[in-house]
Amino acid sequence: MRNINEDTITQAVLASITNCKDERFRQVMTSLVQHLHSFAREINLTEDEWFKGIQFLTATGHITDDVRQEFILLSDVLGLSTLVTAQNNIKPEGCTEATVFGPFFVEDAPTYPLGADMANGAGGEPCFVQGKITDPQGIALAGVSMDVWQSDEDGHYDVQLPRTESGHHEHRARGRFISDAHGGYHFRSILAQPYPIPHDGPVGKMLEALGRHPWRPAHLHFMLVAHGFERLITHVFRDQDRYLDSDAVFGVRSTLIADWVRHEAGTAPDGSLVDRPFYTLDYDFVLNPVKASAQP
Ligand code: BEZ
Ligand code: FE
Repeated sequence: MRNINEDTITQAVLASITNCKDERFRQVMTSLVQHLHSFAREINLTEDEWFKGIQFLTATGHITDDVRQEFILLSDVLGLSTLVTAQNNIKPEGCTEATVFGPFFVEDAPTYPLGADMANGAGGEPCFVQGKITDPQGIALAGVSMDVWQSDEDGHYDVQLPRTESGHHEHRARGRFISDAHGGYHFRSILAQPYPIPHDGPVGKMLEALGRHPWRPAHLHFMLVAHGFERLITHVFRDQDRYLDSDAVFGVRSTLIADWVRHEAGTAPDGSLVDRPFYTLDYDFVLNPVKASAQP
């Protein structure tokens, strides 16, 4: 393996990985090397450009930690997250569509009783959310675990705010609910607002250089888990939002847009009195059964 040149390098790298025991890993790396090399050839990548790319990835690594996921952002703004989500979540007509996960989910959100206010101090106009979870035949699904998370009125998720003295992030505007015997769910929170994805790092600089904005249309994140059904990771978006057709991470699907209705101060759906205007959102979810062959 000497005197390798522009024409023989790709084959040389591919030959070097033939002993890889993990067949899928070898397949993935073979394709990655082929595409990377084709890319460099196609655009005649210069040494300066190659080094700029290395610097960009280095900066992306440096800013990344357990709550600042710059590599996920990079995947999101390049459309890779939406592509991978779309090709792995093909569902029958009528099932709720999936969309990007995003970087702000946390594993240990508190479980609240139905009807609770998950805002937990996050600022924003009151919003009451309710709906039903069913299978494709309309049969109610009880006991579904539903994680919900969203930003506050300033566009910040709790994990983006300063940690408490004990070094933790307080859980705000996020929580887990369990559907009732009729597949119903309801909770109180705050009105979602459009917000820019974190853009003070290398991905933000890249967006600016590309003439793109960092904004996402207002949305609530949901993750639904039920035995015998595919896990659903999705959003519900606010109708009329100005960014629905230019989402920085390409996550909007028409079936996920809903009407968030404004009400004057008065009696809320849970019977409580609200002394300022509030919103209601009604959204039903349809889960896709796991195919019999895929069940453990
Ligand atoms: C989000 O909606 O939380 C999100 C998704 C992708 C990138 C940044 C944020
Ligand atoms: Fe979000």
